[in-house]
Formats: sequence, C-alpha cells, structure tokens
Amino acid sequence: MSYAIVGFGEVGQALAHAFARRNIRVAVAGRRPAEALAPQARAIGPEVVATSLPQALEADTIILAVPFAEHEAVAKALPSWEGKTIIDATNAFGALPDEFDSIPSSAFVAKAFTGAKLVKGFNHLAAAKLAADPVVEGGHRVVFLSSDDEEAVAPVVALAKQLGFAPVKLGRLNEGGALVGTRGRTWGQLIFQDVFKKEQ
Ligand SMILES: NC(=O)c1ccc[n+]([C@@H]2O[C@H](COP(=O)([O-])OP(=O)(O)OC[C@H]3O[C@@H](n4cnc5c(N)ncnc54)[C@H](OP(=O)(O)O)[C@@H]3O)[C@@H](O)[C@H]2O)c1
Repeated sequence: MSYAIVGFGEVGQALAHAFARRNIRVAVAGRRPAEALAPQARAIGPEVVATSLPQALEADTIILAVPFAEHEAVAKALPSWEGKTIIDATNAFGALPDEFDSIPSSAFVAKAFTGAKLVKGFNHLAAAKLAADPVVEGGHRVVFLSSDDEEAVAPVVALAKQLGFAPVKLGRLNEGGALVGTRGRTWGQLIFQDVFKKEQ
C-alpha cells in the first residue's frame, strides 16, 4: 500500500503526525510546490515526504484533506481514478446549498472521483484531536468510516488500526452522513464526539 495526503493544512498535517508516529511513509501535497511544504513535512517526521500533486496521486490510497469546494479541482488532476482509494476527510459545513441537504456531501465527492473507491472518514474530529496520539491509557480514539463499497472499507479499517485508532463502521455513505455529516448548518449527532474504545 502507498499513501498520500492531499491538502497539507490543519487536517493534512494532523494525519501526517499519525503516519509519522507509526513510521509509515506518506506523501503530502497541496497547491504549493513540494519545496514549500518540505520543511513542515520534515519537522513532522522523516517518513512524511513533500511531493508535487501529480507525484502524490501515484499513491494507491489518497486522503483528501482540502476545503470541500476544492475536491473537484483535485479530482480533475487525474483522467481516471480506477484502482485508487480516496479517504474523504472533508466536511461540507455550509458549503452545500439547502436543496442538497438530503444528499451526503461524500456522494458529491464520490461522483467527482469517478472510478475510485471512496471511504468517508477521519472527518469528525477537530484537527488538534486528530493530531494527538490516539492511544491513551485504556483505549483507542475512535474514527468513523462509511462507504458504499464494503470491499473498500477493509483496507481503511486496517490503516486506521495501524495508525492506532479504533475504526467504527457506520454503514453506507448516507447512513454515516446522517450521523456525522451536516444538514445545511447543523451537524450530525456524532460530530466532534471524542470517543474511545478499549479494543481496536
Ligand atoms: N480543521 C479542522 O479541525 C477540520 C476537522 C475535520 C475536517 N476538516 C475538513 O478537512 C478539510 C481540510 O481542512 P483544513 O482545516 O485542514 O484546511 P486548511 O488548513 O485550510 O488546509 C487546506 C489545505 O488544502 C490545500 N488545498 C486547497 N485547495 C487545493 C487544491 N485544489 N489542490 C491541492 N491542495 C489544495 C491547501 O493548500 P495551500 O495552502 O497551498 O492553499 C492547504 O494545504 C476541510 O474540508 C475541512 O472541512 C477540518
């Protein structure tokens, strides 16, 4: 498995810390050139490698950590997403017009990344929590995962565990979206709930 994080802001850097903690190599990229991201990447850990966006998109598993409105720009960077897994860590709070309230934002992202397997996850916590060690005395910090593709979830469950989190599957995108997503300017019940599980 090869991993990349696209978007190296608050969430991208938080997740880079999680990879660095477990010495798992991850490419990080954003809009700025690799050289501009490199000092921050190096400061997080030697396995966090700043690259160009095209290089990052060579990974087979790509975490999307850009502002929601930017997902389409990232999606346009490759002609085909066949064979790739996108882990969508975006939130669409206030970004979707009211008439789309009943459609999970992840469905919009899935549509843009045609051919990819899409798993929604790592989006329910503030970046500072996501950056902290998920293993605490007596438990593992929970991340919620949902997907319309059951096959796609298993490797993301494995990755979340490798990073020290306790993944909890919420079902399909609309099921997870109802619990974690936004309805206009209101949030689902599980957003920001910092939950720990004894077992992964
Ligand atoms: N912050 C949180 O606590 C939090 C928690 C959960 C989920 N989220 C969600 O996570 C996503 C990222 O949030 P954030 O707070 O990390 O945002 P942020 O700090 O503003 O960082 C966004 C990153 O995305 C990059 N980017 C923007 N457009 C891009 C494009 N077209 N192609 C490649 N890279 C692009 C930016 O690069 P440049 O700097 O070069 O412009 C920047 O590195 C959002 O959808 C947000 O809703 C945030």
